[in-house]
Amino acid sequence: MESDYKRILVTSALPYANGPIHLGHLAGAYLPADIYVRYQRLKQRDVIYICGSDEHGVPITIAAEKKGVSPQVIVDEFHYRNKAAFEKFGMSFDYYGRTSSKVHHETSQEIFLRLHKKGLFNRKTEKQLYDQKAKMFLADRYVKGTCPSCSYPDAYGDQCEKCGTTLSPAELINPKSALTGEKPVYKETEHWYLPLGQLQENVTKWIETKNYWKTNVLGQVKSWLNDGLTDRAVTRDLSWGIPVPLDHAEGKVLYVWFDAPIGYISATKEWATDKGDPDLWKKYWQDRQTKLVHFIGKDNIVFHCIMFPATLMELGDYVLPDNVPANEFLNLEGNKLSTSKNYAVWLEDYVQKFEIDPLRYYLTVNAPETKDADFTWQEFQQRNNSELADILGNFINRTLTFANKQYNGRVPERGVLDDLDKDMLKTLKEAPQQIGAMYETFDFRKAVYAFMDIGRAANKYFNDQEPWRTVKEDIEKCATTINICIHAVQTLAVLMEPLLPFSAEKAWSMAGHKDSVHAQQWDTAGEISLPAGHNLGKVTILFRKFEDSEIQPEIDRLRSISESLNSGQTETKPKQEKPKIGFDEFAKLDLRVARVIEAEKVEKTDKLLKLQLELGTEKRQIVAGVAKNYQPDEMIGKKIIIIANLEPVKIRGIESNGMLLAAEDSEGRLSLLGPDRDVESGAEIH
Ligand code: MF3
Ligand code: ZN
Repeated sequence: MESDYKRILVTSALPYANGPIHLGHLAGAYLPADIYVRYQRLKQRDVIYICGSDEHGVPITIAAEKKGVSPQVIVDEFHYRNKAAFEKFGMSFDYYGRTSSKVHHETSQEIFLRLHKKGLFNRKTEKQLYDQKAKMFLADRYVKGTCPSCSYPDAYGDQCEKCGTTLSPAELINPKSALTGEKPVYKETEHWYLPLGQLQENVTKWIETKNYWKTNVLGQVKSWLNDGLTDRAVTRDLSWGIPVPLDHAEGKVLYVWFDAPIGYISATKEWATDKGDPDLWKKYWQDRQTKLVHFIGKDNIVFHCIMFPATLMELGDYVLPDNVPANEFLNLEGNKLSTSKNYAVWLEDYVQKFEIDPLRYYLTVNAPETKDADFTWQEFQQRNNSELADILGNFINRTLTFANKQYNGRVPERGVLDDLDKDMLKTLKEAPQQIGAMYETFDFRKAVYAFMDIGRAANKYFNDQEPWRTVKEDIEKCATTINICIHAVQTLAVLMEPLLPFSAEKAWSMAGHKDSVHAQQWDTAGEISLPAGHNLGKVTILFRKFEDSEIQPEIDRLRSISESLNSGQTETKPKQEKPKIGFDEFAKLDLRVARVIEAEKVEKTDKLLKLQLELGTEKRQIVAGVAKNYQPDEMIGKKIIIIANLEPVKIRGIESNGMLLAAEDSEGRLSLLGPDRDVESGAEIH
């Protein structure tokens, strides 16, 4: 398969320009792609890496409304901020576009029109949710309501964040407008639908050729196909987006998931124009010898594996993805990341405090490749200190320091080789092929382990050869050892380039190279030997250790957020929306003031009290769940309020003829309600 391709086109999901980038984004769709691309460049392959900002869709307009600014203000801010943050992180995009660009608008409209002219879309009039107060249709996230599958009360119109089910607004129970809180009404509107049901057969046939895809991806795709694809609207009634390029379509824009993936194409066009060869994009998108790879998070699978390919198939002259190595999610200190609750590690904050490469390292060793993974600051610190610093950094540092001291900063002569020398050279020579094969199959974790093993082997080689001893006893052997160690430093520098690009450049220049490590060749990385006498560069520390005092504040910050979130959860617990009632329904309640005359605990429970009440001339017995907050003694004499006409029930075998009223605070503590002035028992409450 590999050899059939002449070039590689890599994309990462276009992040919404409505907020900053956090570690979850990086681990899912960006870092693995960057590693892959950097590796392919060292392999001297023809590869381009395309990304950009997704600037349409309801997430953007909602962010704008929250801040009280226009969507353009939001996307301008985050486009530039995210682009800059990615650069600091070492993301090596060939082009970072944005979907508000003119080229993108034109490209999307052109593609829509082509498909429209072909008669692909079904045009349908349907009833959709409409907010009468805001005077607009409520697409996607503009509606919230109760999830029909898990009863989560805050599900969005396009998805339930709790159970992950994909929804349409009409499926929500008790839908409410996210804009005004109003209960929406149904109103007719016309839209264009991609007839996925009709395209299913082609999609299925194509997916069947993809048996080499990751199982988490195939699993999701097959479950969609098994459930049967249905028509999907590719237009929306919204004011922000790309106008539908047809007559009589005022106020209608393309659905964000129709235009955003086309963003990959338009960004490639802009890249080609920048290169001075405007048609160059066609080679990457329309020549069958291009290998197209989409890096995404798991929430984007259906769009990249079904909807977008189905669209491309209908166009007919575009390449389809060869692979979509989607990742699962990254959690943080045991909890789900939450942008809105600020429970995240923001890249912009991270770069103020720590170096980049340790993060790239930890996010990759601990990548959510096959299942969700958890980021903990402690493991981050530990992996940095005991792997990057103690193994890799230590080896490079001790080698070059030794050479500086004993050989005046020059490469010593290689002499006769012993078995350890030969083994070391063999390991180095084979490493690029061995690790490269793992990158080719997107086994990034495995590749990093294999890479670190080379560092370990080199460190062990240094220890076993004991140059600090041979320098006194066998100078030829010592020179050979250090010569091979310097050889290993260079191999490691090239091998670490995809993963640790900043440290790779440093190590490369420490070995005395004037050119860039980024321009080296992967395949021969195991065989770079420097001539004896070559001058080494200045030695600096590659990886410093992180102190507890730097790590602890990060842990504390997250902990305090998660604690307040958890206690917040009880507060907002089943504050279930109750339906409105008329006065006549309220009037059915017989609410009365009652005086407690006897109180005792119900045996074998810690919650229940059995109370004898006086209601004017009448006596009543009720069972009340207040024992955690009230002792029997303190109940006696209290005037409380009860619902006197509830049907009698038996609680623990004891008859209860009514229910008292109490307020419950956020900690679950109860407080009895009573009259504010002294009122005789039996008094009615209106
Ligand atoms: N903005 C989307 C998200 O963050 C991803 C869009 S990917 C693209 O989930 F293919 F549509 F561009
Ligand atoms: Zn749900």
